[in-house]
Amino acid sequence: MCFASGRGSNVEALIRSIGALHIPARIVLVISNNSGAGALKIARNADIPTLHISEKQYESHERFTQALLDALSAVHTDLIVLAGYMKKLPSEICRKYPGRILNIHPALLPAFGGKGMYGLYVHEAVIASGAQVSGATVHIVNDEYDRGKIIMQENVPVLHDDTPETLAARVLDAEHRILPRAVADIVEQIQKDSHKKLVHE
Ligand code: GAR
Repeated sequence: MCFASGRGSNVEALIRSIGALHIPARIVLVISNNSGAGALKIARNADIPTLHISEKQYESHERFTQALLDALSAVHTDLIVLAGYMKKLPSEICRKYPGRILNIHPALLPAFGGKGMYGLYVHEAVIASGAQVSGATVHIVNDEYDRGKIIMQENVPVLHDDTPETLAARVLDAEHRILPRAVADIVEQIQKDSHKKLVHE
C-alpha cells in the first residue's frame, strides 16, 4: 500500500512498473492526508481503493494513529511505500512494520534530509549549497526523519542555471526509475523469506 500527499507521479510510476516489470505485487490501498491529492485520483482510475486520513480529522494523535493502524491491518499489507508523503508516519506504525516501510526522497541522503526537507525545499537547499550533484534516494523508514538504511540511489547533475523546479523535474525522473526497482527487490526478498518460513515450519 502507498501513502502520498500530492500530485502522485510516484504512485503512477509504481502502478505502471508493477505491470511493465511484472513485479508480483498489487497496491491494495492508497492513503492520503490530502483529499484533493492527484495520487488519490490516479489510484481510483486504476481501481485501487483509497482513503483520506488526516491528523486534522481526529481529536488526538492517538486516535489518528489508531485510524491508520486499523486501515493498514484491514488490508494485510506486506509493504508500505511512502510515495510522495509529506508527513512523518507515527512512531507506532514505524515500530509495527520494521524494515517494511520505504520512502522516496528527492536528494542524496544523508545530505538534505530531515525535518522541513521535503518537496521544493530540498531542491532550493541543494542549489543554495552549490552542490554539483543531487539525486534520489530510496530508504527504509525508521522513527528518525530520513535516517533509515539507504537501499537505492541515483545521481543527477545540478546544472549552473537550474531552478528548484528544473532540478526537481530531473530528480523526479530518477525517482520514477529507482522506486519501482527498490520495490521489486523488497518484494522478491519478502517472497524468499516467506518461502523459507514455510519450508522450516
Ligand atoms: C517527490 O519528489 C518525492 O520525492 C517528494 O515529493 C515529491 C512528490 O511527487 N517527497 C518528499 O519530499 C518526502 N520527504 P509526486 O506526488 O509526484 O510523487
